[in-house]
Amino acid sequence: MADQAGDPLFQSHDPIFNRKELLHVGHVPDEDRIVGRDDEIQSVAAEVGAITRGDPPNNVMIYGKTGTGKSLISRHVATRAQDAARSNEIDCGVLYVDCSEANTETRATRQMALSLKDQTGYDDNIPVRGVGTMEYYQHIWNILEGFFDATIVILDEIDKLDNSNILMQLSRAREAQKTDAYIGVIGISNKVKYRETLDERIDSSFGHRELFFHPYDASQLREIMRNREDAFQPGVLEDGTIELCAALAAKKHGDARKAIEILKEAGELARRTGSENVSESHIQQAQEVAEINRIEELTSGATVHAKLALYALASRIITGDRETYKTREIYERYVSICELVATDPITENGLYRQLKEQAFLGVIESEKTGGGRSQGSYLLHRLVTDPKHIVKAVRRDASLEELPEYDRLAESGDGARNRDADLSSFS
Ligand SMILES: Nc1ncnc2c1ncn2[C@@H]1O[C@H](COP(=O)(O)OP(=O)(O)OP(=O)(O)O)[C@@H](O)[C@H]1O
Ligand SMILES: [Mg+2]
Repeated sequence: MADQAGDPLFQSHDPIFNRKELLHVGHVPDEDRIVGRDDEIQSVAAEVGAITRGDPPNNVMIYGKTGTGKSLISRHVATRAQDAARSNEIDCGVLYVDCSEANTETRATRQMALSLKDQTGYDDNIPVRGVGTMEYYQHIWNILEGFFDATIVILDEIDKLDNSNILMQLSRAREAQKTDAYIGVIGISNKVKYRETLDERIDSSFGHRELFFHPYDASQLREIMRNREDAFQPGVLEDGTIELCAALAAKKHGDARKAIEILKEAGELARRTGSENVSESHIQQAQEVAEINRIEELTSGATVHAKLALYALASRIITGDRETYKTREIYERYVSICELVATDPITENGLYRQLKEQAFLGVIESEKTGGGRSQGSYLLHRLVTDPKHIVKAVRRDASLEELPEYDRLAESGDGARNRDADLSSFS
C-alpha cells in the first residue's frame, strides 16, 4: 500500500482552496473579518453599552432580512461589552438563546439557566427534566444575584418563541426584586411585524429601541468577500470574480451568507472541472445553483400542493407570454399537473391559500387588480425569481421528479399555449 501522503488518490495539495473553512456556512468570522457594519455595531453598542459603566442598558430589537449580520453583530457587540465591563471590574454575563430551537418559555429559560451555571461556579443542581419555567427562572435570578452585576441576553429568532412572557420577566426582574443585576435584552427577528404580535402589557414593560439592518449592497458584499480571499490559494481567484459575485448577490438579496456560499460553490466547480482558476463563468454557474438552493430552502417546508402551485405558475410563465397570472389560471394548470404526478388536486380556494403562503415566504408576489365593472377584483401572481429555478427546485422533491424539466417546458411553449386555451374552455 502506498504511504498515505504519497497516495495519488488523495491529493495532498488543494489547488483551489487554501483555508476553505472560512467559507463554511456555520463559520463565525473573527472580529477583524467583520466589515461593512460599523454603524450597526455602534448602534447596538449605544443601546447595551451602559452596562460597561455599571449603568442600566436599553433593550433593543434588531430587525432585518436573512444574512444581514444580525446574529453576528449582536454576538460581537455583546462579547466586546463583556470585555469592556470586565476592565471596569463589572461582571457581565452573555446569554445567547436560539429561539428557533428553544422555542418555548421552558426551553429558553432552561437553556439560560444552564448556560449561566456553565459560566459560573453555581453548584445547585439544575434538572433538565421534570421541572417548570418558574424553577428555571429561580435559578437564573439566583445566579445573576450571586455572580453578576449585569447580563446581556440575546434572544435570536425571537418570533419563534411560542409566547413572549420571557420579555416581561427579564425586563421586570429588578423592579420585582428578583435580582439587582442589570439585564439588557437584544431581540432579533426577520419579521418586522413581530412587535404587532406582542401583548400590549409585554410591549410596554419591554420598552425597547428598534434597529433595522438593511441588506448588504454590492460594495459591502465585496468587502466581506475580500476579507476572506485567503480561503483560496493565492492567485486562483481571477480578477473581477469577487466583484461579479457581489453584484449578483446584491441584486438578488443582499444576503452575505449566500454571497459567501456562491464564492465557495464557484471554487468547488473550478476544482471539479480541473480548472486552475476561478473565473466569472464559475461564479455565474454557482449563482444559478445557489439560487435554486435558496428557493429550495424557502419551499422545503411547503406541501406538495404548494410546490405544484409554484410549478404551475412557473410553467405558465415559461410557456406563455405573460409574467403574471390569475389564481384561476394557475389553478387550471395545477390540476393538469396533478394528473401527471397522480395526485388528487385540492380546491381552488385551497390553492389560493397555498399561494398566499408562498407570497409570505417571498417566492411569489401577488397583487390585487381591478377586473373591470362586471368582473370584480382578482389577484395576479408573479414569480420573484427565474421560473427555471422554480422548476429545478420543485423537481428536487423526490415525489415530483417526473415533472417535465425546464427545457421540455420551453420547447412545448406554443403547443402548451394552445393547451391552455383548451383547458380554459373547461372552466
Ligand atoms: N458584516 C459582516 N462581515 C463579515 N461577515 C459577515 C458579515 N455579515 C454577515 N457575515 C457572514 O454571513 C453570515 C450570516 O450572518 P448572520 O448569521 O449574522 O445573519 P442574520 O442576519 O442573523 O441572518 P438570519 O436572519 O438568517 O439569522 C455570518 O455567519 C458571516 O459569515
Ligand atoms: Mg441570525
